[in-house]
Amino acid sequence: LHVAVLMGGWSSEREVSLVSGAGIADALEKLGHRVTRIDMGRDVAQRLAETKPDVVFNALHGTPGEDGTVQGMLDLMGLKYTHSGLATSVLAIDKQITKTLLAGTGVRVPGGMIVSSESIYARDPLPRPYVLKPVNEGSSVGVAIVTEESNYGSPISRDAEGPWKHFGRLLAEPFIPGRELTVAVLGDQPLAVTELKPMRGFYDYDAKYTDGLTTHVCPAEVPADVAQAAMDMALAAHQALGCKGCSRSDFRWDDSKGVEGLYFLEVNTQPGMTPLSLVPEQARHCGISYEDLVGRILEAAL
Ligand code: DAL
Ligand code: MG
Repeated sequence: LHVAVLMGGWSSEREVSLVSGAGIADALEKLGHRVTRIDMGRDVAQRLAETKPDVVFNALHGTPGEDGTVQGMLDLMGLKYTHSGLATSVLAIDKQITKTLLAGTGVRVPGGMIVSSESIYARDPLPRPYVLKPVNEGSSVGVAIVTEESNYGSPISRDAEGPWKHFGRLLAEPFIPGRELTVAVLGDQPLAVTELKPMRGFYDYDAKYTDGLTTHVCPAEVPADVAQAAMDMALAAHQALGCKGCSRSDFRWDDSKGVEGLYFLEVNTQPGMTPLSLVPEQARHCGISYEDLVGRILEAAL
């Protein structure tokens, strides 16, 4: 097949996408496909019209490749593409809408609310500790944990160099102490549970993409009921939102509360495919090589 790999773009996750896209393009070539690599720019529709691929492999992360914009363009152009479609992407990019949609599905989600970046200067939206994050970013870009000790002042000082300063709509959620878990779903099959153990602080952007800063334990050393619940919730979220091909759901687990302490945070419809990324690692654990994984995601698009 002739496959156009869309990567790069202008989101805060551009660099991550370039690494995902390079790995995917190499894998597709090893699988015998003809590959055109496209670093996404405003002229992407024209580039695709000239390229005339059989299928597009979407290796973009964040806006506009993960939020439905690119999906809508590809729909209009009549091109097949990997991962989730327009409606799913629009819903899943918004962490608060995602949680609302999962009500009644058995997926436990933390409470929380949308706040404006202006309002947090007036008062804390929740009792500390709480988490502030852009409602539609990835890779922990802009995430802040506001603790009693945070030197953001109380109320948060307007001069504080909070990373959330640069974002419009923020999500405030109670901080869930304990552990960080993630589950990939490929097709309609949850793969495994991974625990992320950052060496310091939390699993932020640097911890995610710097080799050696986070230990990945796959399969996670957690009780069987917690592992099962995480896999069930990841599959339920994947299905309730109508995800296609592959997704990855992220969790916090308050290990002092047993399985009741497991909370779903978000689903990623364009999960990372870099050498340090979690989906390839879980696939490997299940005996699925990186090339095989890329091949399966591609097949789901045809
Ligand atoms: N947002 C990053 C790419 C991930 O979910 O892996
Ligand atoms: Mg994410």
